[in-house]
Amino acid sequence: MADRYEKSEAGADAPVVPSLRWEELPEGPVLVLLDQTRLPSEEVELVCTDVPALVQAIRTLAVRGAPLLGIAGAYGVALAASRGFDVADAADTLAHARPTAVNLEYGVRRAAGAYRDAVESGADRERAAAAALAEARAVHAEDAEASSRMAAHGLALLGELVPGGGHRILTHCNTGALVSGGEGTALAVALSAHRAGELRRLWVDETRPLLQGARLTAYEAARTGMPYTVLADGAAGSLFAAGEVDAVLIGADRITADGSVANKVGSYPLAVLARYHHVPFVVVAPTSTVDLDTTEGALIEVEQRPGHEVTEIAVSFVPGAGAEAGTGVPVAPLGALAYNPAFDVTPAELVTAIVTENGVVSPVTPGGLAELCSTSRLG
Ligand code: MRU
Repeated sequence: MADRYEKSEAGADAPVVPSLRWEELPEGPVLVLLDQTRLPSEEVELVCTDVPALVQAIRTLAVRGAPLLGIAGAYGVALAASRGFDVADAADTLAHARPTAVNLEYGVRRAAGAYRDAVESGADRERAAAAALAEARAVHAEDAEASSRMAAHGLALLGELVPGGGHRILTHCNTGALVSGGEGTALAVALSAHRAGELRRLWVDETRPLLQGARLTAYEAARTGMPYTVLADGAAGSLFAAGEVDAVLIGADRITADGSVANKVGSYPLAVLARYHHVPFVVVAPTSTVDLDTTEGALIEVEQRPGHEVTEIAVSFVPGAGAEAGTGVPVAPLGALAYNPAFDVTPAELVTAIVTENGVVSPVTPGGLAELCSTSRLG
């Protein structure tokens, strides 16, 4: 079950609401999520008391973005364990709530593994639930640490790829604090460039159809004082042609062993444009996003979402608007068919570099990627 806490009206001076938090209430623990479907208009929290509510929040993108999905999945297992539900069943449902971001499965597996290990070593349900929660907290904290390491590695790389500073960075979707235990992936790099006085402009793709760029990245950019401009996705080509982009920085939902990168639909066209215009195309993602068990990009399951997300515009601050067909504002004739993959896959040959918490791989080769994932975090 999910309840809503109404918080503040969103504004540049409003307090930053964490994207996710665990809370112990007298009636039991809950997972509290910042409902990202309501941003930027309102900061409203969604209180999940069970796994079905969390699965619904994941499917409707109230909670979203690869690293945060991993954290939410891990806490979801802890929630099931603490409230006495069947943990194996909860883990299975959570791991498959959305198919593309491998972090979801990763976080679920970590917490479920901790629970199982505790049970196998004789712990009672309460102690096993505490083990699952401790593991979820560890996944959360590790992501925060990975975020700051990626920001440092990414900033150093930008300095090498774009000498002279004053970077004009194009980004797609949302990859900031909203999707992370820390400050995010690609957006954390842009933010550290900003803090170093080296960000001239953040170009924010609106990211159709669900507008994660216009609604969420612009919201984060405004709060952190980054100089930003939102553009329609189709305007990126003329921006490159005008010589206004120094580097593209994006996140990832899954990186396969061959270095293919699944990310928000619209990323692949940017990679093609970047190659044509000789602009670096850089992917920033923690190693928890790397899936070495999947050999190539063609094997990634790309989530297909309902067509009404394309044929209707959701009125985001009306609860539930856009979640069901017919609840948004129509922008295509009734009955229009729609193609709505949530992600696309960019081959390694178009990726200049992948930045992880362990360092940078460039050029992107299967061997280099595997080596980076096997190293401990040395900074
Ligand atoms: O469908 P979403 O909003 O969950 O998609 C998110 C993205 O594609 C992000 O770019 C990706 O998860 C990287 S976030 C650090």
